Amino acid sequence: MGRKSELTMMTHNPHGEAAGIDMVDVDKIYPGSAVKALDAFSLDIRPGELVVLLGGSGCGKSTALRSLAGLEDIQAGRIMVSGQDVTGVPVNRRNMAMVFQSYSLFPHLTALQNVEFGLAVRHMSRDKQRAKAMRQLEMVGLADLADRFTQEMSGGQQQRVALARALVIEPKVLLLDEPLSALDAKVRVQLREEIRRIQRETGTTTVFVTHDQEEALAIADRVGVMNHGRIEQIADPKTLYERPETEYVATFVGLTNHVPCLSMGDSALIFGQRVPMLNAPIHEGAAQALIRPEALYLTSPESGDRRHEAVASAVPTSRVATSANGTSATATSAGVLGRVQSVHFLGPLTRVDVVVSPDQLPQVHQDRDMWLTVQLSVQDTAFSPTVGDMVRVRVRSQETLVLSRR
Ligand SMILES: Nc1ncnc2c1ncn2[C@@H]1O[C@H](COP(=O)(O)OP(=O)(O)O)[C@@H](O)[C@H]1O
Ligand SMILES: [Mg+2]
Repeated sequence: MGRKSELTMMTHNPHGEAAGIDMVDVDKIYPGSAVKALDAFSLDIRPGELVVLLGGSGCGKSTALRSLAGLEDIQAGRIMVSGQDVTGVPVNRRNMAMVFQSYSLFPHLTALQNVEFGLAVRHMSRDKQRAKAMRQLEMVGLADLADRFTQEMSGGQQQRVALARALVIEPKVLLLDEPLSALDAKVRVQLREEIRRIQRETGTTTVFVTHDQEEALAIADRVGVMNHGRIEQIADPKTLYERPETEYVATFVGLTNHVPCLSMGDSALIFGQRVPMLNAPIHEGAAQALIRPEALYLTSPESGDRRHEAVASAVPTSRVATSANGTSATATSAGVLGRVQSVHFLGPLTRVDVVVSPDQLPQVHQDRDMWLTVQLSVQDTAFSPTVGDMVRVRVRSQETLVLSRR
């Protein structure tokens, strides 16, 4: 390391040069298990980046984190940190720090003593240790409580101590495994903002594991959505939400309606409306569209179907609205009739659940009621339905969709 890196260290990053991470085709098979907990798992993280691994229980999030930390041996693949292969390097020499859901502090020690503990094994004078630990407690907003026993602290405060204890060793990589899951909602939101702020301040490369999609989208530079031991898609939060590449990702990130439709190559016929598709078509014919609640809107049953106004509720509109190739679909006959099941007022937006009976969807061979969740913003004041109302659900045509095989 020459002068340049020393300078970088002083000016940009108090924790030394940030580390990039490259996990390549990692397999993890637990002893006695037939399935791969990690299956050709690959993850490339830029120095100083905060990546969230998001996924349901058992998809391999913790295993990915523990493998990176060196807490698990891996059966295939390699793990690089700052360009160096650490695959065989033991956990205590990887210079990483981990924070878990359970605070795992010493309850009979004070906050300061807990933070100092991480430094005690290192060759450093007691005064220096104390000063360093104190600075770290200040960073997490706990300077006032330095001398309090951690067993007398709230969950949120204890997790701040755990964070300070992890950071005080100036790790190359910070690993957080569902660190907020045990906390109540308000503290969870506060602390995630704090973690993000501190992570930015220190520039520490961080991997944060959660099953909470809102949390993931809120703090990540990039979110990797995990499924069956690998990352199905990794992208910045906005891209992930607007351009999910798979049905799993679309369903896991944000609310999604599953709507039977007809694929027509570069567009789809949905409720008699021809709507552009987001992803490349996989086939033509019967398909399933994944539509965000905010991409749907409501009108009165009569509107938008002038030709059949009088019989709008008696005749399945989709029958007049669509033909197999969709060419006869027009804006005036678009939408599907349904009955409002519930209305949830959520302040800036209102969420409306609508149930559509199968006879409204004759061309797509739907045999059960279809539930649609529609999200209206405060701007959508023109039509505010109540429970039991018949409504027409339509697709905002500028919204794109994900399509999958049916
Ligand atoms: N110590 C273990 N021994 C055997 N199987 C395990 C062990 N830990 C996790 N697994 C299995 O590996 C898979 C991934 O687990 P894990 O990484 O804990 O998932 P997540 O953190 O996403 O909930 C699961 O099927 C789980 O049952
Ligand atoms: Mg886990």
